[in-house]
Amino acid sequence: MSSHEVTLFIDGKEIQANKDVTVLEAAEENGIYIPRLCWLKGLSPFGACRVCLVRANGRPQPACTQRVMDGMVVDNDTEELRGIRRNIIDMIFVEGNHFCMFCEKSGNCELQAMAYRHGITAPKYPFLFPQKAVDASHPDVLIDRNRCILCSRCVRASKEQDGKGVFGFTGRSIDKRLAVSSGEGLAGTTLDVDDEAVSACPVGCLMKKRVGYAIPVGERRYDQEPIGSDIESVAANKGGE
Ligand code: FES
Repeated sequence: MSSHEVTLFIDGKEIQANKDVTVLEAAEENGIYIPRLCWLKGLSPFGACRVCLVRANGRPQPACTQRVMDGMVVDNDTEELRGIRRNIIDMIFVEGNHFCMFCEKSGNCELQAMAYRHGITAPKYPFLFPQKAVDASHPDVLIDRNRCILCSRCVRASKEQDGKGVFGFTGRSIDKRLAVSSGEGLAGTTLDVDDEAVSACPVGCLMKKRVGYAIPVGERRYDQEPIGSDIESVAANKGGE
């Protein structure tokens, strides 16, 4: 083990990790999936959704922002944490208007896939049915805020990867909404259909126009395998070596 590495334990498994990485990254490198929605590889961590909540040395922490420490003991796959994550996912659903059966992102949607992974078929809280605006002004990209989960992946991707700053937020709490950098709507911004910000969206909020249903429902990414199984297959393959 080099001086840049630490040893930690995730769900009882001993792993080595670079001391500069987060718990989520260390877990992923070792084939352990920690659920996440607002985290996306290549973007600065934001810590918004709390779906990645773990217990690090007994204290609840978001795994996407918590750095590893030598000797750290992390609980990830426990009944308590699965229950907290289920509650968070339930709340995300009722705070928006997510009608999966009519959504083009179905089967490719990380929120839908996260719900299935956690055994959720219907939220247990009452729907709030908030009023949220659609912006279809851009020739190539649609914003449907009914499906936005305020993860800020498009905000960060536009700023950090596209160098534009097209997206931001307006309002607070239950009135918080995705905003764009022009009073003319999305059409007034410098957004391009190929921007990283568009593909960073984990749900059906930012959608490319004229490409709907190119892949039939039932043959899409999470129709084939549960979310996170690509990461867990790394561990399975290592075990088979
Ligand atoms: Fe860590 Fe969202 S993935 S808070």
